Amino acid sequence: MQTDNNCIVIFGASGDLTHRKLIPALYNLFKIGRLNERFCVLGVARSDLNDETFRQKMREALLNTEETTPETLEDFCRHLYYQAVNTSDASDYGKLVPRLDELHDQHQTCGNTLYYLSTPPSLYGVIPECLAEHGLNKEEHGWKRLIVEKPFGYDRKTAEALDVQIHRFFKEHQIYRIDHYLGKETVQNLLVLRFSNGWVESLWNRNFIDYVEITGAEAIGVEERGGYYDGSGAMRDMFQNHLLQVLAMVAMEPPAIINANSMRDEVAKVMHSLRPLTQDDVEHNLVLGQYTAAEIDGKEVKGYLQEKGVPANSRTETFMALRCEIENWRWAGVPFYVRTGKRLPARVTEIVIHFKTTPHPVFSQNAPENKLIIRIQPDEAISMRFGLKKPGAGFEAKEVSMDFRYADLADDQVLTAYERLLLDAMKGDATLFARTDAVHAAWKFVQPILNYKEAGGRIYEYEAGTWGPVAAEKLIAKEGKVWRKPSGLMKKKV
Ligand code: NDP
Ligand code: BG6
Repeated sequence: MQTDNNCIVIFGASGDLTHRKLIPALYNLFKIGRLNERFCVLGVARSDLNDETFRQKMREALLNTEETTPETLEDFCRHLYYQAVNTSDASDYGKLVPRLDELHDQHQTCGNTLYYLSTPPSLYGVIPECLAEHGLNKEEHGWKRLIVEKPFGYDRKTAEALDVQIHRFFKEHQIYRIDHYLGKETVQNLLVLRFSNGWVESLWNRNFIDYVEITGAEAIGVEERGGYYDGSGAMRDMFQNHLLQVLAMVAMEPPAIINANSMRDEVAKVMHSLRPLTQDDVEHNLVLGQYTAAEIDGKEVKGYLQEKGVPANSRTETFMALRCEIENWRWAGVPFYVRTGKRLPARVTEIVIHFKTTPHPVFSQNAPENKLIIRIQPDEAISMRFGLKKPGAGFEAKEVSMDFRYADLADDQVLTAYERLLLDAMKGDATLFARTDAVHAAWKFVQPILNYKEAGGRIYEYEAGTWGPVAAEKLIAKEGKVWRKPSGLMKKKV
């Protein structure tokens, strides 16, 4: 299905996300013929740029993309425009009215407009109001949709307040809260793995599963984003959104049909079923950490407190591990261990489903574990681990693996998360975007962690390049379990 004719208005067009992710995603969609040819992009920000200088900036960003030719690049750039607007002055948005009329006429985009909010989050409530002041939210001539970048709120109260602000001018069906993890092919594949295979679904519950591990590890530090990150931390940056969404995909019930409402009903149910964290949980089932300087591969790596934009006395966590539970019939009593962090030994996102062992070990005392490892990124793969007989005398069981690499399935180019989600928003498909009730439930769940941090809760140190504080190992060891230590190399074997 092709997208409707439409004009994409990017607020924050002079910023990092626009040139690093959004324009390259649109360019690739253009190159592979997935965009309707009647489209245009209007970049908006305060910087003093014009169409030509904006195109030049974007050209430079795109020159590094694979398989580009000067002709295709120029064809694409002819669809790009720029309008300087003082984003905090409502009257200045008036400039957008004639500009958009002209572009809709020129590119025959039928008034369909996709607003992308890629500015500092403090403007997420302001921009919709300013657009509405000039009638730019009205759907009489073409649809109007709003993509809102993360973070959606800073805590439960601010997320609710932001919704109230936006809902005054845009209806829920017009709002697309982006979480790029939902755009990842392998996250969507989880649903297909679970709901298209009878044997998987029949084992996918508390009767067979011992515990679930979810890891979102990054090898990089905070890079140039210290200023932003310090106000956020691992909990707000990764856990409240990306990892809780992944957890919901692991835990949700099968939707009646695959459409935005059914899917998102099931996601919201998981968020509502998370067992509320008690004071005891935050003290005993949560570990927060911050990386310290180290030498990695012969190179000195800064500690978090030495990073640019980070106050020397910061208590922001760059690592978080949590044991949580889901209170419903499928999952009651099954621990979910979730961890995320910067400056860990590898960039890897994976889910490990640990199955229960046999009730009585017949062949050896150390029966091999049965586990299903779902590698979300990189080297996307699924690996099933189980025991088979070790060749030779006796009956010694040995762990073996059955591996599947996602790349072996793809005969077409796999879209990146931003490509997929931009395309979906242009088609009006909100299935892979976060819905308001799920976002609020996620904030409600994490609020005790925020309170714990604010009340001076403990932040452990860990050396850059390690798997986080020792306390995280102890957390999982309390139940006799261990975190998997995924290697960065999963080219052939997971
Ligand atoms: P940048 O700081 O690089 O860009 C912010 C943009 O907003 C600039 O174009 C800036 O341009 C514009 N802007 C408009 N009004 C204001 C204002 N009043 N104050 C400051 N800037 C203003 O941010 P990013 O591009 O990195 O991020 C944009 C949003 O996307 C953020 O909310 C971020 O959390 C989110 N995000 C970013 C990711 C990334 O990888 N960069 C990943 C996931 C989410 P000008 O000064 O010309 O007005
Ligand atoms: C972003 C966070 O949302 O996700 C970053 O702000 C993080 O801090 C990034 O690095 C991780 O995304 P990915 O797709 O590289 O796993």
